[in-house]
Amino acid sequence: MQKSFLFLSMAVLILAGCSQKSASLKVNIIPAPVSITVGCGQFTVDESFSIVASSDECRQTAEFFASRIRTSTGFPVPVTDAVSGKCAELIIDPESGIREEGYRLSVTRSSVRVEASDADGLFYGMETFMQLLPPQIESSEPVSCVKWKARAVVIDDYPRFSYRGCHVDPCRHFRTVGWIKKQIDVFALYKLNTMHFHLTEDQAWRMEIKKYPKLTELGSVRICGDGTVNEGFYTQDELKDIVAYAAQRHITVIPELEIPGHELAAIHAYPELSCRSVDVPVRQIWGVEDIVMCPGKGLMFDFLKDVIDEMVTIFPSEIYHIGGDECPKAEWERCPKCQKLIRDLGLDRIDDGYTPEQHLQTWIVEYFEKYLAQYGKRIIGWEEILEGNPTRSAMVMSWRGTEGGIEASMKGHDVVMTPSSEGYYLDYFQGDRHIAPTGIGGYAPLEKVYGYEPVADTLRQIGREQSIKGVQGNCWSEYFYTGELAEYRMYPRLLAVAEVGWSPEGSKDYSEFTRKLDTDASVRLAEHDINFYIPMPEQPYGSCDNVAFIDKAVVTFTTTRPEQMFYTVDGSEPDAASMRYTEPLEFTESTVVKIRTVLPCGLMSATRTVNVVKTTFAPPADISRDGLAKGLNVTMIPGYYMNIDEMVRSKATYSELVIPDADAISTLLPGSNANNVNVNTPQYAAVARGYVDVPEDGIYYIHSDLEQVSIDGKPIISNAGEVKRYSHKDVSLALSAGLHEIELTYIGNIFGGVTAGKTKDKLKVRPEGRTEFLNVPGELLYHTK
Ligand code: ACM
Ligand code: ZN
Repeated sequence: MQKSFLFLSMAVLILAGCSQKSASLKVNIIPAPVSITVGCGQFTVDESFSIVASSDECRQTAEFFASRIRTSTGFPVPVTDAVSGKCAELIIDPESGIREEGYRLSVTRSSVRVEASDADGLFYGMETFMQLLPPQIESSEPVSCVKWKARAVVIDDYPRFSYRGCHVDPCRHFRTVGWIKKQIDVFALYKLNTMHFHLTEDQAWRMEIKKYPKLTELGSVRICGDGTVNEGFYTQDELKDIVAYAAQRHITVIPELEIPGHELAAIHAYPELSCRSVDVPVRQIWGVEDIVMCPGKGLMFDFLKDVIDEMVTIFPSEIYHIGGDECPKAEWERCPKCQKLIRDLGLDRIDDGYTPEQHLQTWIVEYFEKYLAQYGKRIIGWEEILEGNPTRSAMVMSWRGTEGGIEASMKGHDVVMTPSSEGYYLDYFQGDRHIAPTGIGGYAPLEKVYGYEPVADTLRQIGREQSIKGVQGNCWSEYFYTGELAEYRMYPRLLAVAEVGWSPEGSKDYSEFTRKLDTDASVRLAEHDINFYIPMPEQPYGSCDNVAFIDKAVVTFTTTRPEQMFYTVDGSEPDAASMRYTEPLEFTESTVVKIRTVLPCGLMSATRTVNVVKTTFAPPADISRDGLAKGLNVTMIPGYYMNIDEMVRSKATYSELVIPDADAISTLLPGSNANNVNVNTPQYAAVARGYVDVPEDGIYYIHSDLEQVSIDGKPIISNAGEVKRYSHKDVSLALSAGLHEIELTYIGNIFGGVTAGKTKDKLKVRPEGRTEFLNVPGELLYHTK
């Protein structure tokens, strides 16, 4: 449906472009090339078009693009050896003087020529040619009524950085080979050249290792707290197929084998890998796991070497990622074998501010650095590997912020920047979290990702610019419950990463980038069936689908980048022919507003339905304050329940206590907040009842991640069956001043990898006119004595 709408609107756009001189000069290439000179006229790809491979080396690229152009145009597109008629001539000349991965693309009315000094450059030159053609060139089926014209240009281009990556995490949620290949297609479109493949984790081991079959038999299956099963792994043949598929698109797959933390799935399969040989399930919840591999036993080294011996037969990449992040040291501190190793190595006698256990981790990193070096491999690790001053040859991935990268560079390491603080964690929110699918947190709108400059001034001042090898978007998949959700978070931000990684320093132009995105790249993504984020209409200070008012409602909508919004008030689905939103909407009667964003290319966001409800102030409870005391009364019900019905039906023995404020409802319960919680940990449900003392008549916006909130005896928010964070169920209520009955239900279960013990917001309120949601203070809460 998206596609057919898109097709009509693009046809209009192309015709409009021909009659507008300034628009016609624009080209839509992402990442922006180093230099473009626009010439006269256009080259037309038609029935007679062929691709000329001037050497055997060019043939693979020629065949690759011929096949793609054939698919969408339906033209024969032969690959030939000699120039004749209408063709694209592909040339690799190592003496051309063109930089590594660079190219020169010349398009005239009658010819196309792509020249490069290496096969990578030739490939990128052809990707750029594809971007000169209408975006339907990416279609997976023939499109008949598009004129396949490319503007006459001369483009000289080469990348700013040699490392332009996307990290993919199929561990938290398994992704099929097909899904991975689909992403690789898009990475190639935007000249990304590295896929960092995170294959081992606490929550699953995804890579077949023939010597250790239990890694995948047991370690690739996670039984989640909500009873769902997440399973899957890649056979070695499948991994080789992915590597070859990526290589054909000039993408290197860097595998990540986490050492020595984040390995609970392997420990589940082979418990003796841990200090205490613990029998543990694959980790059900997200977060950092305390149980790690035991270096005090020789076993860990034998195991990892065996794994590496098999990995090198699959992944030809020169760089191998050895993890190294978030490895708690508590187990090693208590383990006699680890402590003996520390003493034997003399790591307890180094006095440089790092602990012996941090030095032990460094020693492990160096051990595997040397082991991988025997295979001609170089290691990269997360920035924590700096904690024990590793050798300079190790590359460092800066992820917590930029400081790790700066420190690593100053210490002589090569660095890849993936700073979460700068928006390079593409699992962060990119719009209002009140209406976005639940996520890990953070806020990284497109403009932030685009605006990041990878080379810090500090490094320029000391001449260390060259140590910054590039950038990568990290796509951790804890909250990517489906492939569609993963894409929703990855795109279009990954295109900003691509432009930051490729385009020349100082060339950034965010409005030009978004113009290209809105008119062209979005269509290409849609042709690849990518479920990318289109900014949704949002309300300031927290979007809410339920807006209460007394006399008049004023409802304001914005988008995270300037886009047009269209709405209806008659219940119909809005589109570009509906009323355009230009100013806050005013209502004096109850109305259902349906609103969505429409991009210039015609693609539309999902529709938001906002119920604007005329109401009256709900009266306070008829109760005397004499019989009340501070705090809420809580009924605690031991047991593990998936929902309120199960809890109510339980025969568990109840107990009662009083909590001072709503926040205490989950944090006071034993076991509910544990890091390694699983169904064997004591679990509770709890219902807090009492009254909230509303200070004045008003409209109150209410947010809660709890199982359920009731006010005045009516459930107003239910997060049943949902992850207990970033609820989408906000409501607004008109409340009179005075005491209102309140009931909060907490169920200590696990949904979507999140224990309710870590419920984010218990009860937050924003009075209309204020900009912030605040906790309800304990002094406004009462219960019957
Ligand atoms: C990381 O996000 N733990 C590298
Ligand atoms: Zn140990």
